[in-house]
Amino acid sequence: MYLGVDYYPEHWDINMMDEDMQRMTAMGANIIRIGEFAWHLMEKEEGSYDFSFFDHVIEKAKGYGLKVMFGTPTATFPAWLAKKHPSILSKDEYGHTRAFGGRRQYCYNSKVYREYSTKIVRQLVNHYKDEEAIVAWQIDNEFGHEGSDQCYCDQCHHGFQRFLEAKYQDIDQLNEVYGTIFWGQTYNGFDEIPMPQPTITTHNPTLRLDWARFRSFSINDYGKLQIDLVRSLKGTDQEITHNFYGGFFEKAYDQNIMSEHLDFVSYDNYPVWGGLKEPLKPGHIAMTHDYVRGLKNRNYWIVEELMGAQGHNVIGYLPRPNQAKMWAYQAMAHGCENMLFFRWRGMTRGAEQFCLGIIDQDNEDGRKYQEVKSFMKDVVNHGTVIKSEIQSDIAVLYDYDNIWSWYNQQQSSTFNFTDELVRLYMPFYTLNTCIDVISIRKDFSKYKVILVPVMQMIDEDLSLRLETFVQNGGTIIFSFRSGIKDRNNNIYFGQVFPCKIRQMAGIRVKEGESLQLDQMVEIVGEGRYDGNKGNCMVWRDLIIPETAKVLYRYNDQFYKENACITENQYGRGSVYYVGGGVNEEVLEEIAKEIVQARGIPWIDSPKGLEVYKRDLNGVEWLFINNHTDREVMYEGMEIEAYGSKIVRGQTM
Ligand code: GAL
Repeated sequence: MYLGVDYYPEHWDINMMDEDMQRMTAMGANIIRIGEFAWHLMEKEEGSYDFSFFDHVIEKAKGYGLKVMFGTPTATFPAWLAKKHPSILSKDEYGHTRAFGGRRQYCYNSKVYREYSTKIVRQLVNHYKDEEAIVAWQIDNEFGHEGSDQCYCDQCHHGFQRFLEAKYQDIDQLNEVYGTIFWGQTYNGFDEIPMPQPTITTHNPTLRLDWARFRSFSINDYGKLQIDLVRSLKGTDQEITHNFYGGFFEKAYDQNIMSEHLDFVSYDNYPVWGGLKEPLKPGHIAMTHDYVRGLKNRNYWIVEELMGAQGHNVIGYLPRPNQAKMWAYQAMAHGCENMLFFRWRGMTRGAEQFCLGIIDQDNEDGRKYQEVKSFMKDVVNHGTVIKSEIQSDIAVLYDYDNIWSWYNQQQSSTFNFTDELVRLYMPFYTLNTCIDVISIRKDFSKYKVILVPVMQMIDEDLSLRLETFVQNGGTIIFSFRSGIKDRNNNIYFGQVFPCKIRQMAGIRVKEGESLQLDQMVEIVGEGRYDGNKGNCMVWRDLIIPETAKVLYRYNDQFYKENACITENQYGRGSVYYVGGGVNEEVLEEIAKEIVQARGIPWIDSPKGLEVYKRDLNGVEWLFINNHTDREVMYEGMEIEAYGSKIVRGQTM
């Protein structure tokens, strides 16, 4: 197992390296990540490549038995390059050039940037291809992060028009699909098509979806350029990765595509960041791990695990003693099998003075050092179970086209895609089941239950796959606005919502209502849920059951006749439809009923105590994480506030 730190030796006096490495290894580290922001150090002037600093670092590392992950340095290019070729700088939506300074301000579609990236990466990998200490190459750093998924420069504009031309071939075809007859936007040629920059009112929804697809294509295409190059040069035992970040559903970047080309996926786990007064909810953090594991359907690395409080200008919540360590354990439960902590030592100069690491500016081995040490010393004993494969009976399905379609038309001011995904994920997480979070383009036939949050875009092909799944005995939960649009982001004509899934859901949705901030409608249970009450926010579909049974109904003056939650037996399976942003308790009861009926293993645990079960050759292992600030008892064990345990359970 690799355990280590993100080390930036170039930030410090070179004479500190020995002591640093001694302390790292004493802590339990066996790997460092270096290089990802150090282009200038490798090419001070154009064409004069010099890797001597890193030669020295690697020699030292080897002396301490440390392996190396090396980052290609393209996330931060040298100032001389920006001065010589300002065209590499990306532009914001107002067309303003992003200044040198900050990072990730290059345009993926800049030919010049591609040439310079190719040159530095070629030199770097050639130089180290035989270096046995380097076990992996990290490509760039966090593609698309911090707004770098978007660029509105001329190169992108031109690229977008060519992208559309390749897709639609004929401008009349594009006009037809976009419905440009509306507001007289008909184009005579591809070179008339704008980028969706600020204008009065709003742009065409299909244009905006195509723009998101183009942005995603641009990142993936640039990334692939580097991946292919590194692959053609690197040593046989060196692997290739890239570090993805949280907040992925908010970006125009489908990471599944890049993941196909990587040897393994890496993730940067920051459960809290600048300005947040509290961390993400435990279930939300868990969902991000399940998503990252789902990118390649395999365990993954974390190459930046938060240890200290973070923030560029505004700092966020300070993780409580043992809390960040517990997040590291939680990651291991969900499929992380090698982990590097961000970062060895907080830097006293530069933009990240307040992004703290394991060691603070006092340079002492403080609380965080001791926590990482105790974590590393413990998890190495559990390597086999940590590396074992996770088997899930439940999957949450998402589709980036659908997400981007929501992103451009959120329909309710309180709508947030991630929240809606977490809404369906959460009740099953609370039952401590194993859940995969995967793209809907992947095969989902092996699961017992699939959760399909707010999938407003359902085409013929997808509906047939969903139908087969239910026919064969699967259980599906859809949530509101399902199936209203085709893959071009247009609303279906002449079909009753939820269109292609209407029959399997056994319902009609004639009307819906967007609910704004603080607007909540009461819902009441029926049949086996009689006497239950709950509520619904964000949106409500006014459901008319056809063959479906009503589980919950609205309880307000005009819509008492309409259902909010329904269940329909279809083929050998069943389809639930949750017509709005329903509260957790209501969904939890339904989830419990489903896991029991489908024979899915689940664990009853006190609130806030996550008990994640892994199976290793017929033996059960429990990863127990206390997300609360109080001691909790579980099966006779005391789990301290923010405490973690990996314990052997039953033999099955
Ligand atoms: C990550 C990034 C690191 C560092 C860190 C600070 O997103 O990859 O380079 O900036 O955030 O929290």
